[in-house]
Amino acid sequence: MTSQQDWWRDAVIYQVYPRSFADSNGDGYGDLPGITSHLGDLAELGVDAIWLSPFYPSPGRDAGYDVANYVDVDPMFGSLDDFDKLLAEAHRLGLRVIVDIVPNHSSSDHPWFQAALEAGPGSEERSRYIFREGKGENGQLPPNNWESIFGGSAWTRITEADGTPGQWYLHLFDSSQPDYDWNNPWVADRFDEVLRFWLDRGVDGFRIDVAHGMVKAEGLPDWAVPEGADSMGTGAGPCPYLNQPGVHDIFKRWNSVVSQYGADRVLCAEAWVEPTSALALYVRPGELHQAFNFPFLLADWSAADVRQIIDDSIRDLGAVGAPATWVLSNHDVIRHASRLALTVPSEQGHGIGPKSPGLPDPEVGARRARAATAMMLALPGSAYLYQGEELGLPESIYLPDEARQDPTWGRTNGERYGRDGCRVPLPWEADAPAYGFNTTGKTWLPQPEDWGRFARSEQVGVDGSSLELYRELLSLRHRLGLGTADFAWVEGYPQDILAYTSGPVTVLANYGTETIALPDGEVLVSSSPLEGDQKMLPPATTVWMR
Ligand code: GLC
Repeated sequence: MTSQQDWWRDAVIYQVYPRSFADSNGDGYGDLPGITSHLGDLAELGVDAIWLSPFYPSPGRDAGYDVANYVDVDPMFGSLDDFDKLLAEAHRLGLRVIVDIVPNHSSSDHPWFQAALEAGPGSEERSRYIFREGKGENGQLPPNNWESIFGGSAWTRITEADGTPGQWYLHLFDSSQPDYDWNNPWVADRFDEVLRFWLDRGVDGFRIDVAHGMVKAEGLPDWAVPEGADSMGTGAGPCPYLNQPGVHDIFKRWNSVVSQYGADRVLCAEAWVEPTSALALYVRPGELHQAFNFPFLLADWSAADVRQIIDDSIRDLGAVGAPATWVLSNHDVIRHASRLALTVPSEQGHGIGPKSPGLPDPEVGARRARAATAMMLALPGSAYLYQGEELGLPESIYLPDEARQDPTWGRTNGERYGRDGCRVPLPWEADAPAYGFNTTGKTWLPQPEDWGRFARSEQVGVDGSSLELYRELLSLRHRLGLGTADFAWVEGYPQDILAYTSGPVTVLANYGTETIALPDGEVLVSSSPLEGDQKMLPPATTVWMR
């Protein structure tokens, strides 16, 4: 068992995506009071902490990851007072609270960027961002060939105050998200202040957005995403704007800021970095505490692949004394209840829609997702859950084109559907407006018509429901101390079976197509009904035994 100080080593942390969680004022966007009113449900689910995606003032061109003020709450979500209430209520219920920090870029509406535009070339204000002269005779070409992760060029040319075409600025994401120049100490100083602002308010930690992108290689050399790689960096090999060694200096500094507030504050990296030996560098002593295990998230439905990643993770993260941070879904990826049944791979961030090839069979997806989650939750380390996965929510594939909001959709002229399908407002009550998301029925993204069956109200206390499965897994995990238990593979099963012991529990996960006989022992929980008088494990099922 972990102590109060290193609670994060085995914690299960629930990601709340505020605009889609619960809407208290009926404007169609979730808000902080909405979250506060449901914290009891999350405590009851059995998670240890929540992570809140951004709720800061923002023009919302990237759903709040375009921050226009790091130290306030967007009126759409409430006020600082609402935040304090949320935090107090969470702490009262024994839930820790992690907030999102977005340090790679600001919104182009941020006063710092506006000041940079105004101040002109060569100014101190411009040096906080990455402004460069264009190439070509009249500077009409971008400074290099980098592509935005959302599609299109990573550079936008501005018009100077005198009306002439001017410098270009770098944005790894949307043109409304200019990248900072972290070589400028001014930037580092401002972010120390942002960290302190939220730590002073009592937050338990930060999830660091694009942690692997904050430092760019000297000279900004040309580079194109290689065939078969994804634009966030997976499979890309060395890249001049991702996973540069300089990011580690920033995190050492942040570690020293955060530790002044006590050893129990945590920093978690969103770093799409592989192999796991490279990811481990982020969680060395004196740097960050957690780093999402995206190689695990990206693994196919394959026992061999998953086993390899678990081995690599436990070995490489263990070598630096860090736990693994397991995760299967978040607001950027296709929900795992759909993703795990795709018959044609989809690139991270591209999403799926009506015209995508290889769309999943919903039954297969639902079943595999439950099995994968049950396989994950007995592993040693911490785990993140994404809101709605406990309800078994699939990706919302059939959103009307005109409803889509992800900048990826617009920047690629509809070639990539983007991430809206995993961001649809949650169903709470089967027979209420907006399925209980609010009382007006308005939602910023439309909810599918058949979502009543996923509503929380239909699952509470229902044996075999996804919600009750999650609850049971979390409660057993907690009671038996699985997050810090000794882990070992159990050999001797067919290759499509993952079998391991975690402390007192034996886990068997069937990734194959054959039903297999279970060993003797007591069945604690299974992700789908067992067969043969509880003695047979069918395909796409995970069982915990003792
Ligand atoms: C991260 C966020 C994603 C956002 C991007 C730019 O990947 O998780 O939602 O679009 O950074 O901030």
